[in-house]
Amino acid sequence: MVAGTVSALLLGLSLAGGSLATGNITEDSYFYGESPPVYPSPQGTGAGEWAGAYAKAKAFVAQLTDDEKVNLTAGTWSQNGCSGTITAISRLGFPGLCVNDAENGLRGTDYVNGWASGVHTAATWNRSLAHGRGVHMGREFYTKGVNVILGPVVGPLGRMVRDGRNWEGFAADPYLTGQMVYETVDGLQSSGVATSLKHMIGYEQETNRSPETNSEGQEVQSVSSNIDDETMHMLYLWPFADAVRAGTASVMCSYNRINNSYASQNSKVLNGLLKTELGFQGYVMTDWGAQHTGIASANAGLDMAMPQSSFWGKNLTTAIANGSMEASRLDDMAIRIMATWYLVGQDEGFPTPGIGMAEDLYAPHQRVIATKPDEKSTLLAAAIEGQVLVKNVNNALPLKSPHMLSIFGYDARTPETMDIPSESTAADNPLIINRTLTVGGGSGTNSPAYIDSPLSAIQRQAYEDGTSVLWDTVSKSPEIDPTSDACLVFINAYAGEGYDRRGLYDDYSDELVANVADQCANTIVVVHNAGIRLVDPWIDHENVTAVIIAHLPGQDSGRALVDVLYGRANPSGKLPYTIAHNETDYGNLLNPALPEGIFWLFPQANFTEGQLIDYRAFDAYNITPRFEFGYGLSYTTFDYSSLTIKQSSSSNSSTSSYPPAATTEPGGNPHLWDELLTVSAVVSNTGDVGGAEVAQLYLGIPNAPVRQLRGFEKFYLAAGESVEIDFHVTRRDLSIWDVYAQDWLLQEGPFVVSVGRSSRDLPLQGTFTF
Ligand SMILES: *[C@@H]1O[C@H](CO)[C@@H](O)[C@H](O)[C@H]1NC(C)=O
Ligand SMILES: *[C@@H]1O[C@H](CO)[C@@H](O)[C@H](O)[C@H]1NC(C)=O
Ligand SMILES: *[C@@H]1O[C@H](CO)[C@@H](O)[C@H](O)[C@H]1NC(C)=O
Ligand SMILES: *[C@@H]1O[C@H](CO)[C@@H](O)[C@H](O)[C@H]1NC(C)=O
Ligand SMILES: *[C@@H]1O[C@H](CO)[C@@H](O)[C@H](O)[C@H]1NC(C)=O
Ligand SMILES: *[C@@H]1O[C@H](CO)[C@@H](O)[C@H](O)[C@H]1NC(C)=O
Ligand SMILES: *[C@@H]1O[C@H](CO)[C@@H](O)[C@H](O)[C@H]1NC(C)=O
Ligand SMILES: *[C@@H]1O[C@H](CO)[C@@H](O)[C@H](O)[C@H]1NC(C)=O
Ligand SMILES: *[C@@H]1O[C@H](CO)[C@@H](O)[C@H](O)[C@H]1NC(C)=O
Ligand SMILES: *[C@@H]1O[C@H](CO)[C@@H](O)[C@H](O)[C@H]1NC(C)=O
Ligand SMILES: *[C@@H]1O[C@H](CO)[C@@H](O)[C@H](O)[C@H]1NC(C)=O
Repeated sequence: MVAGTVSALLLGLSLAGGSLATGNITEDSYFYGESPPVYPSPQGTGAGEWAGAYAKAKAFVAQLTDDEKVNLTAGTWSQNGCSGTITAISRLGFPGLCVNDAENGLRGTDYVNGWASGVHTAATWNRSLAHGRGVHMGREFYTKGVNVILGPVVGPLGRMVRDGRNWEGFAADPYLTGQMVYETVDGLQSSGVATSLKHMIGYEQETNRSPETNSEGQEVQSVSSNIDDETMHMLYLWPFADAVRAGTASVMCSYNRINNSYASQNSKVLNGLLKTELGFQGYVMTDWGAQHTGIASANAGLDMAMPQSSFWGKNLTTAIANGSMEASRLDDMAIRIMATWYLVGQDEGFPTPGIGMAEDLYAPHQRVIATKPDEKSTLLAAAIEGQVLVKNVNNALPLKSPHMLSIFGYDARTPETMDIPSESTAADNPLIINRTLTVGGGSGTNSPAYIDSPLSAIQRQAYEDGTSVLWDTVSKSPEIDPTSDACLVFINAYAGEGYDRRGLYDDYSDELVANVADQCANTIVVVHNAGIRLVDPWIDHENVTAVIIAHLPGQDSGRALVDVLYGRANPSGKLPYTIAHNETDYGNLLNPALPEGIFWLFPQANFTEGQLIDYRAFDAYNITPRFEFGYGLSYTTFDYSSLTIKQSSSSNSSTSSYPPAATTEPGGNPHLWDELLTVSAVVSNTGDVGGAEVAQLYLGIPNAPVRQLRGFEKFYLAAGESVEIDFHVTRRDLSIWDVYAQDWLLQEGPFVVSVGRSSRDLPLQGTFTF
């Protein structure tokens, strides 16, 4: 590193306002110390599907005064109940925008559904289900007059295992996350609600996410995620590309810094990666309170500050007048924002912004019902398919009209009130919640229409079957009727925004499971988990016959579980992350980075593991997981045969190492999505019942991790039935990011091609070279 870089860092630090007593920062004492400048901010061009929206937006913005343009760029304080509000421009018929949380349903209002969370949706591995969830959830936002949903989440990706928000995102894998977010954005926006994809980027821990004052009264800056360029492209940016390609209207930048530069003013991230490389045509919004500078953030590519801006306002027009900012930048901000409104068709027939929201639900407000009967099947299907059966011996499941079921554990219980978990506090950062867990805490949660707990749903089933049900959801060492056919134990693992989890298990729940298993020969454990939950203390107990990792199913939790327990639904979920034997198996990725050493005012998270997170790390270091990424059982069995690999007939450009030059479209060079390879396999249902399988394709790409998910297909097969499935592999899937060329370099091979049931159960193997 050159000395200039060091002084740039020092300058950055002192400008940031910390008391800089660190005379000992030396040339080699920091990892990626800076983020390269990328200016000017690219103007939106109206590429691809955006052409019509841009034409309308430009015509609209041409009629605005500078003050009106400025008003579009920041929220305004409002009592309408929306998380953020953009002021109306009534003289031109623009009614303003209501933007609102988000992840598992519309937050902070009534008459809405509580949907399966992001991680639960990923565990379904079902693209059309992810799409349907988006369509129906989006309609609820629409009905309530919410223009912009503050979601979906692809960052955190799941690098740091204890992260408090991993459950809001999809999978600890860029490919699965990318596929799921593409469908989700497309589904949501097809319902006329704009998405604000979040959080860009490297937002992989809650600890030190925001500036805070330490015990010595010093200002500690947000953690810096120091990410090399190849890792950025191969992991963290990957799903953003899919979501931009799907047309996301907005992108929300994160609280953290990247290479020591705040996300909301990081020109490399916003101007460079997002607006140039990915050709993003929409607008960049801050996370709440994440703006740290005025003109610097505008020039770095920020378009909208939320919930208000203490930096912009009139200062933007002053800055244009005195030459610190180009007038075209303000126009571009306004055009990008207005284009999204036209893109999703909100200029025609959209309800009054915020009509279904209320500052206080217990005060008089109008009734706007967003729940619709035709959503029910999608709600339930999502709740069912995201549950993962990880153990099932002695045909413990499905249950067959049992005479007696004994139910234990706090997680079986209906909450005593609709106490939706919200932001946790340092003192109250629980490992578990004393009632059934259907969603994690924080801005991703909402007030569902109802919560169907496991105990209520089992009682309803008992009515049908004439089953006796005994329950004790309070005791840790319950008494057990020895004639019980089965004992069901319900535990959970909580996580919420604002704090990272304190651990991946808790002794109370583990002792509860052991106490039941010691007395009951047929003990079935159900875990509702907002993140990875270890199971080693009891999974091999001889009396633990079945285990369901049930994630966060939303309001239909109980009904969905009972459908699985009784075999009306055959489990088909697969883990979207790796469950280790022991916390220590996650190595440095277990814990968040903390302020330390010379960086105690500027905490550094060095992403030195590169691409080796989750299964990529377990594979690289040959660590045996308890349950690997992609793992999940069914009530039937599937056989794999007949692997074929062929170059796609349409891939006429495949001999070229880099994608053919093309005009950038939202998502990047469109040729990255050219299909170059088709991998086929035959899968047969060899069991006695029908069921759905998720066949997975992993590629060993030269110069890359051992294997990476590059295809999956989910399909239903009746007992005895077989099907040939095709995986369509694109140029991007076969390339690695070339940091010198700054482009995707197609690898020649040999590729190791593996197909099977999980990342470690891959009966079909082949190789391919272009
Ligand atoms: C991050 O990298 C810097 C520079 O190499 C180093 O000084 C610091 O100790 C690292 N932090 C951690 C937590 O490893
Ligand atoms: C961060 O620094 C690394 C190493 O210098 C560089 O490769 C990468 O492009 C930088 N990324 C950002 C967003 O600044
Ligand atoms: C800008 O927004 C504020 C707050 O909503 C409003 O009072 C003001 O009239 C707006 N200015 C213009 C020029 O529309
Ligand atoms: C302009 O910037 C100054 C300094 O950051 C700030 O105090 C002021 O509130 C800003 N003005 C407006 C109108 O936002
Ligand atoms: C121009 O205006 C901006 C916003 O008020 C201010 O921050 C900046 O210091 C001004 N620059 C000059 C050269 O006056
Ligand atoms: C859980 O809640 C129940 C019912 O309110 C209560 O009796 C019990 O003591 C609580 N358990 C724990 C571990 O806090
Ligand atoms: C399994 O359950 C039976 C009761 O059915 C009990 O006698 C036995 O000790 C249990 N096994 C273990 C290992 O606790
Ligand atoms: C994890 O491993 C450590 C070190 O080997 C051991 O002390 C600990 O008991 C293990 N924890 C669990 C939950 O198995
Ligand atoms: C260098 O950094 C260490 C670690 O924070 C600190 O304890 C020490 O006082 C610093 N030394 C100087 C000369 O500033
Ligand atoms: C062949 O390549 C050219 C140039 O990249 C492209 O325009 C054309 O669509 C490709 N044809 C097929 C069938 O993919
Ligand atoms: C995937 O979800 C869709 C929509 O809910 C459903 O129709 C389909 O059956 C599911 N696919 C499988 C294989 O379960």
